[in-house]
Amino acid sequence: MDLVLGSLGLDCGTRCCSLDSTEAKSKDTMAAFQLLFPLLASCVAASSPPSRHLPPCQVVQMDVFCSNLSLRSAPVNLPRGVQMLDLSRNQVQNLTRETLAYHTGFHHLNLHSNKIHFIQPGLFKDMTDLKVLDLSRNHLNVFSLSKINIGPLTAVESLDLSSNGLYTGMSDYFLADSPSLANLSLNSNSITKIAQNTFSGALSLTKISLHNNVILEIEDGAFDSLDRLTELDLSKNSITCITDFNLCNLKVLNLSKNSMELFQSTRSTDLYKLLRLDLSENKMLYFPLLPRKNMLEYLDVSRNQLQSINVTGNPEKNTNVFLNDLRYLDMSYNQLKSIPESFFYCMGSLEVLNVSNNCIGSFSITDERLLQTVKIINLSYNSLQSLTFGENALQSLEKLFLQGNDLTTLDHQIFQRLPSIKHLQLQQNNLEICALDQNHRGPPDCVSFSSIPNLQFLYLSENNLRTLPANAFANTPLKLLDLSLNPGLDMDKDSLSGLEYSLVHLLLRENNISSLNTDLSSLRSLKDVDLSTNHLTILPMWIKESSIESLNLQNNNLVTLEYSTMLALEHSLKTLYMGSNPLSCCSNLGFLHMVQHSAVVVPDIETVTCVHEEYSEPVNIEKVTQEMCHRSGIHNYIIVVVVIALLVMILLGLLVRCCHTRKRKHNRSFSA
Ligand SMILES: *[C@@H]1O[C@H](CO)[C@@H](O)[C@H](O)[C@H]1NC(C)=O
Ligand SMILES: *[C@@H]1O[C@H](CO)[C@@H](O)[C@H](O)[C@H]1NC(C)=O
Ligand SMILES: *[C@@H]1O[C@H](CO)[C@@H](O)[C@H](O)[C@H]1NC(C)=O
Ligand SMILES: *[C@@H]1O[C@H](CO)[C@@H](O)[C@H](O)[C@H]1NC(C)=O
Ligand SMILES: *[C@@H]1O[C@H](CO)[C@@H](O)[C@H](O)[C@H]1NC(C)=O
Ligand SMILES: *[C@@H]1O[C@H](CO)[C@@H](O)[C@H](O)[C@H]1NC(C)=O
Repeated sequence: MDLVLGSLGLDCGTRCCSLDSTEAKSKDTMAAFQLLFPLLASCVAASSPPSRHLPPCQVVQMDVFCSNLSLRSAPVNLPRGVQMLDLSRNQVQNLTRETLAYHTGFHHLNLHSNKIHFIQPGLFKDMTDLKVLDLSRNHLNVFSLSKINIGPLTAVESLDLSSNGLYTGMSDYFLADSPSLANLSLNSNSITKIAQNTFSGALSLTKISLHNNVILEIEDGAFDSLDRLTELDLSKNSITCITDFNLCNLKVLNLSKNSMELFQSTRSTDLYKLLRLDLSENKMLYFPLLPRKNMLEYLDVSRNQLQSINVTGNPEKNTNVFLNDLRYLDMSYNQLKSIPESFFYCMGSLEVLNVSNNCIGSFSITDERLLQTVKIINLSYNSLQSLTFGENALQSLEKLFLQGNDLTTLDHQIFQRLPSIKHLQLQQNNLEICALDQNHRGPPDCVSFSSIPNLQFLYLSENNLRTLPANAFANTPLKLLDLSLNPGLDMDKDSLSGLEYSLVHLLLRENNISSLNTDLSSLRSLKDVDLSTNHLTILPMWIKESSIESLNLQNNNLVTLEYSTMLALEHSLKTLYMGSNPLSCCSNLGFLHMVQHSAVVVPDIETVTCVHEEYSEPVNIEKVTQEMCHRSGIHNYIIVVVVIALLVMILLGLLVRCCHTRKRKHNRSFSA
């Protein structure tokens, strides 16, 4: 439907003249007009249909788009019945009936990013269809200084006054008579206080955004008369506390990025409809005191200063609030040392729990009735030494993030008890992996990863792992296994058996491996292998045709690449990283051919160099030619020829001498 039905402005004949007669001509349109004048004359002479050169505005059905044209007012020849006018990013200063070409039938007026500092009082009174009015990024603070009301905003439902330099009290001149206003943005102004009567002329408000102001004070009852208010955004202000939160009808409250130290609801037993509460990035020392009867689904208290889950400084005063509908709880980036199991008693619907980046040393869920619905637990970057899950606890848990802790010993069957676990991040700990047959005997300090029926993603990098026993992952359908950064890891040759049909990604980066004794060619699904930063001197063997699509061999000690292995790889390989290896130029012509002639992409080709005896510096692999190596072939040939010639000469010499002596002997005997 984006059909351009017409254009405004520079058409032939009277239209141009009428544009010229408006006071609101910009330099640009003038210039265009002068340029077009000869054309215009011929145009009139031929009385051809209106030309559509240089349309300043676009008309799409009843919508007119005049954005960014240096206009000071709307074109006078707006089509009759225009509903939407976009005059954004222009030079409008005075907003009057004249600026809008005396049209009043607008539904939507977009005037953002102009220089409006004056609005004709009563301008919107007759615009009974005007629903959306965007006045953001203007200079309405200047207008406010005149202390004149703009008059009734009869039908306006959505009003944007953001970025207008408005400070406290100034919004009153716009809101005093706004009976239909539902959606108001005052974002990015300089408001410091919300007075009791600020919104008294706009009682239909459902959503107010005050993001990015400097609000320090909200007078008692400022929002009380707004029965329909459901969304209030007070983020990025300077509010320090809320002590009697009583807005029962509010659904979304955003107090992120303030200086909140305290959030307390009234002790009423009314049902609060609040669904989302964002208290992130504040200075809260205590868990918020939430309404007793609530429907809260989303609570973000991340990046505060919580040291415990207590609601006040006095633990005895704590009253448990039921958070039966809570699905998402983020308490990351605080200073929590522990979370007692009882904290979760009243959270029967929780799905996501983020307590990462705290100082939690021990975490346990033993009661199987707790957290039955939780799918994600993020405990990363704490100081966990102990982790306990009871029999049948956490039956829905799919993702568990435990990276960056101090885990050394765990109950070795801990993960087998989580029937839904799919994704396990254990990097940066100190774990040891049990062998399959160790599971029941219980050697000290190991954790088993075999027979975890749904585990697909396992991250074990940076664990100081020393050995990877045979069948370590038997009966666990791993798709991704990250064993990187475990230098000196001794992998049993059967350590990956059982993963033949599931493993897709294998990461063995920075493991100090000098030769891989595990046969990767039995891993039929393997597509992505990272062996970078090791000490490999030969390529791992691929006996069968491989399925590998991406192989990273950067930063190893590879000199010669086995041609048969390259052939086994070539038909599936799409990406190969090979930089920083001491390759020999002329013994890798097979690889060279592959780089130059097959579809394999070598993203780090700039750093793939090889050593050539005739060059003091390593040569970039792309610059190597067959001839460079042929030449040295010829050299060798010459050497061989010379050597043979020498040998022949020596032999001949010997032969000659031999004959001589015989002759003499003969002579002697004859003479004797
Ligand atoms: C805007 O309107 C005011 C009041 O009507 C007038 O004094 C002023 O000159 C006008 N400014 C421009 C730029 O037209
Ligand atoms: C409210 O107004 C803002 C800014 O003008 C706009 O982005 C948002 O979509 C509007 N919301 C509703 C529900 O009308
Ligand atoms: C709260 O506001 C911040 C911006 O300051 C935004 O990033 C965040 O998503 C908002 N929270 C919610 C729950 O909408
Ligand atoms: C907390 O973790 C959840 C789920 O893992 C994530 O969506 C959220 O962004 C995290 N919070 C922060 C502050 O990063
Ligand atoms: C875990 O939470 C941290 C914030 O604390 C976040 O940065 C990280 O992305 C989260 N992890 C996941 C996988 O969501
Ligand atoms: C890495 O391997 C080299 C020999 O290949 C060995 O000397 C060194 O100790 C190993 N380093 C570690 C941390 O295992």
